[in-house]
Order: sequence, then C-alpha cells, then structure tokens
Amino acid sequence: MLSDHLLARSRYEQAAIAVLAGSLEASRAVAAEIAALIRSRQAEKRDVVLGLATGSTPVSLYAELVRLHKEEGLSFANVTTFNLDEYYPLPPEHAQSYRSFMRRHLFDHVDLDPARTHLPSGTVPKSEVDAHCAAYEAAIRAAGGIDFQILGIGRTGHIGFNEPGSPRHSLTRLVTLDPLTRRDAAGDFGGNDATPRHAITMGVRTILDARRVVLMAWGQHKAEIVRTAVEGEVNAQVSASFLQEHPAALYVLDTAASGALTRNRTPWLIGALEDQGLAWDERMTRRAILWLSQLKHKPILKLTDDDYNEAGLQDLVRLHGSAYATNLVGFYQLQHTITGWPGGRNPQKSKPGDAPVRPLLAASAQVFPKRVLVLAPHPDDDVISMGGTLCRLVDQGHEVHIAYAVSGSGSVPNEAVWNLLAFVRDSGLADPARAESLRALTAGLGAGDSLPPSAELTRWKSLVRRHEATAAARVCGVAENRLRFLELPFYNATPRSRTYGPTDVAIMGELLAGFQPHLIYAAGDLDDPHGTHRLCLRVLREALAQAATARAPWLAAAELWLYRGAWADWPLDEIDLAVPLSPQEVLRRRRAIFRHETQKDQALFLGEDRREFWQRTEERSRRLAQAYNELGLAEYEAIEAFKRYAPEEFLRSAAF
Ligand code: F6R
Repeated sequence: MLSDHLLARSRYEQAAIAVLAGSLEASRAVAAEIAALIRSRQAEKRDVVLGLATGSTPVSLYAELVRLHKEEGLSFANVTTFNLDEYYPLPPEHAQSYRSFMRRHLFDHVDLDPARTHLPSGTVPKSEVDAHCAAYEAAIRAAGGIDFQILGIGRTGHIGFNEPGSPRHSLTRLVTLDPLTRRDAAGDFGGNDATPRHAITMGVRTILDARRVVLMAWGQHKAEIVRTAVEGEVNAQVSASFLQEHPAALYVLDTAASGALTRNRTPWLIGALEDQGLAWDERMTRRAILWLSQLKHKPILKLTDDDYNEAGLQDLVRLHGSAYATNLVGFYQLQHTITGWPGGRNPQKSKPGDAPVRPLLAASAQVFPKRVLVLAPHPDDDVISMGGTLCRLVDQGHEVHIAYAVSGSGSVPNEAVWNLLAFVRDSGLADPARAESLRALTAGLGAGDSLPPSAELTRWKSLVRRHEATAAARVCGVAENRLRFLELPFYNATPRSRTYGPTDVAIMGELLAGFQPHLIYAAGDLDDPHGTHRLCLRVLREALAQAATARAPWLAAAELWLYRGAWADWPLDEIDLAVPLSPQEVLRRRRAIFRHETQKDQALFLGEDRREFWQRTEERSRRLAQAYNELGLAEYEAIEAFKRYAPEEFLRSAAF
C-alpha cells in the first residue's frame, strides 16, 4: 500500500511524499489504491470518477490496471473517466492523440464503457472551444466531481498542460505549450515543427477540486522539478506547487525522482546523518565537500573550519579532526577520478614510478589490451559524448568495437537523402534493376519535403547514418569491421513505442555474449528528450541481467562506464572517471562529430537550443574542466566524465 511508503516530512517538504525503489513497484502501489477504491464503491453500488493522465509516467500504472482486470477480475463497469488534456488541433484517430494513447494503454483492454470516457476534443472549431471547455467542466460536475486524479509532472512543473503562469483559479481552457514541453514531445511527432503548439487542458482549479490527487514522477530527469514543486513556494510558475494546498495530495516518487530533495541531496542540512539512517561514506563525504566549495566559491583546499561550521558540517570535520584533513580527503577523492588511461596501462610497459590508474575496478585491471565495447544509442552518440576517450582507448592499444543501437533514421531530412540519391542516379553506378525505383524516389524527394515516410525511405535514411557513423569512427581509428549496427526494432515501431521487447534484449544479449567485453561504455543519459537513450539502457540492463542469471563467466571481469550525452553531464560528486583532453584531442573529436553531416544545421532534436552538437559537446566538456579547476585541481582544456558500475551493482541500482 502507498501508506507504507509515506515519509515523515522534513522541514523542507511542503507536500506529502511516498518514495519507492522503482517505477514498477510504485505504479503497482498506486494501482492497488485505485483498485481498492473501485471495489469499495462497487460494494456500495456507487460509481467512481477517475481523472486520468497520459505521457510516459502512467504507462506502467495502466499496464498494472489492465493486469488486475485480466487476472484478478477488477471490473471498470462503475467507472467514469475524465482525461486531463488533449493536443489541439489534433484528430482523435491520430496516433499521437491522447485519445489514441488511452485506447492503446487502457480503454481497449478493460470493461470501461466508452461512453463514460471523456477527453477534451482536439477537433472542435476554434469558435466553439470556450463553450466546449465549459461543457467539459459541467460534465465533471454532473458526474459528481473527480474522486481520484492521477498526474504526471512536466519538466516545466506543469500538471495537465498548465504551463508556467497558469493561475490557481484556472479552469479547462485552450493553452499554448511551453517550448520545453514541445521539445519533450518532439520525438513522438517526428520533430519540433510537427509538434502541436496548443492543447486543451483542465485548469489548476479543476485538478485541485478532485478529492484525492496523486502525482507520480519517475527518473532523475524529474528530480529538480520535483524538488521545486515540493520544497519551493506555491507559485503559478510551477503549477504542481499548488498541490501543497491540497489536503489529500500525494507525490509518489521512485528513488531517482526523489534524488534532489534536500533529504537526499544535502541531508546534513536536515540533521545528523545517523538519525536519518545515513553515514559519512566516501560518496557522501565528497558530495558535502564539493557542495561547500561551490557554496563558498573557494577551492577545496582553502575551506576553513568556519566554512564547515557555518554550513552545518561540524560532524564531518569532527570525524576527520580538522578542516585541513577533511579538505584533503575530498581533494584526493576528486583527484583520483582523473586519468589519461581510461582502459588502464599496459602492465608490461608501466614503470615503478607510474601513478596507479585508480578508478578501474580490480577485476580487469591486469588485462591488456582490453576488449572495449562502446554502445551508442544513436549513430553519433559515441563521438558526441565520449569522442576524446574513444580516440584514447584506440591509441592506447585496446580492441575497441562500437555498437549503434538504433538506426537514427528519424532525424535525417528528406533533402539530405535527395542529395545522395541524385548523385547515385547520375553516377551511372546504380543497379539497373533498381534504376526505376531510384528515379521515382528521387523525383518524389525533389518535389518538396512533403514525401510521406515509407519503408524504402527509412532504409535509405538508415544507410546514410550508417555511413556517417563509419566515417566518424574512422577519424577515431576504429575500422569498419569493428562496427555493429544493431537496428533494435523498438525504434521502428509505429506509433513510436515507449517500450522495448524480447527481440531487442536478445540482439543485445547476443552482442555481449559474442564479444565478451571487459569494459562497456554506455549512455546513462536519462534526460534525452526522445527517450531512446533510456530505452537503450533498459535493454542493456535486461541483457546483462540475463547474462547474470546464466552466470556468464565474462561478466565477472566486466565493468560498465556510463557517459552522459549532449543534454546534461554527471553531477560532480557522481563522477568516477574524468578523462582530460588536450586541445588537439578536442579538435579531433570535433572532426569526428562533423562527419555526421545530416545532423548539422537542422537536426530535429536540437529543440529550442540552437547550438550544434559539436558546440554543446565542447562547451560541456570545457565547463567540466573549468569546474575541476575552480575546485582547485589542475587546469585542463576539456574533460569527459563517466560513472562506474560493476554489473551486479548496476543491476541492483534503482536509478535506471
Ligand atoms: C499528460 C499531461 C502532462 C504529463 C507531463 C509528464 O496528460 O497532462 O502533464 O503528465 O507532461 O509527461 P511524461 O509522463 O511523459 O514525463
């Protein structure tokens, strides 16, 4: 039950929260509460009104409700539903409409009466929108009001589509979507331009009028906004903060989404760690020292007793004896993350005076050269996220293979394909048997950008990206025969599926078993707006879990290094390995990124941030180098950062 996971409120929290290890477990607990409500009303022969949400968050909740219906006889015959919102304009039969979403995930699989399911209409004429919204409010009232409202939270802090600026008294209405919200949806619509600009949404007041409100949030990309909503002031800039005023509102979080709450990020501000069941272990110590150094704008080694005392860190100083000794602990921890030998040194060639390569786990420390598998979700994530480290691993003699998980065809513009096909058509090299279809396709592409997607066009687009990736890998010294294009099928499902299947896992499993890597580099980037990185990581996780169950011998010597993509970097206290790059290496990485020509200028997923990928990469890795320098470490041109996991530790972690 949810109540079992309710936390005693810290003085920073202004709303009730329940934290569960993972989103599946949390969804099951929410589903159990909904099922109990439906059943108790059935016993009283009364109806229930549910307020429903869409998006990635409630998918696992709906899956559990469907399971309860199919396996445990939960009936929805007494249930009426009202959804929060619908894109406008958008016909209900559009694959990305919220009506389609609800049918796909819930309505078509349970015994809900279709006449009792309500969503705002995406097709009412503009002149009738106001009347339609008023009628939606009236229908909720006529049904007796909402008993149980489910919510997700957008990264703007919206509930429903109540974007920043939505007042407390707002009712159902037509709204303009925030650029960040549109960017998050762009992956589903095949690009920013095709993403609707408006929606009809229930208002803040409509939501707060529900008798029970449960807001769910999963994953670390929601952690910051959850903190703002739970610990910040009630404020129309973050509509979720209004839940603080609701007597029966509850935030249900997984561990990752609760990560930025004061109780988790800076628990020493709440009280003694022992009282919270925590300890001053290595990670916590480093986190506190880095936090203090940034708070005081001082390098670590210049922090004084007063600095520690003023910030409530007396316990930490007492543990180490003095501020000076505490500083050294933090300083050395950070210094030991830095290595120019990401795969370890050649033991045959190392001299007695060489500094040990500390961040590596013991299991494969003596193996040289190592089998290194770089897993890139899209065909350019390898060079964008870790191009410098990739070059080093190759230059230092390791056997580096790169596997690209999905084709990335979705972000190739038609005109780029026209360029290449027109070249093939005119080169005289085209296969005569295919000349006609080539001519037709080139003509279709030449006629404008409106050619609808087809299997053939997608195939060409995949091929384009495959060759760009091959060219980029060559810049890093990785030959073509060391590249694998996995083309995981989840990426090609229409409408874009937000889940993966056993075939995806089998393909990944076969890759791992065949190559038996010592080091796996994978994208741990849960903030990518289209969700592909997150799914790729889950596929890897499941493949590793299967290898662990089968007791695959290679797994014991393997370690996993997670990199972050173009969208965000690791927080400083989570970095285990920092690979410094020279100015020349930064330029070589730039050359590799440039090979991805179709991703320049017009990449669909750049969203509102207009910087090219190479610019983001350079700014990000320079900023990290500067942060190290400000903490008092050496000044490097750029740094690429990684977080380390032993496979079994990764499998245990609730963060993914
Ligand atoms: C959906 C809705 C939105 C989402 C929010 C989170 O009906 O109204 O408020 O709940 O945008 O979306 P996901 O769950 O996709 O992160």
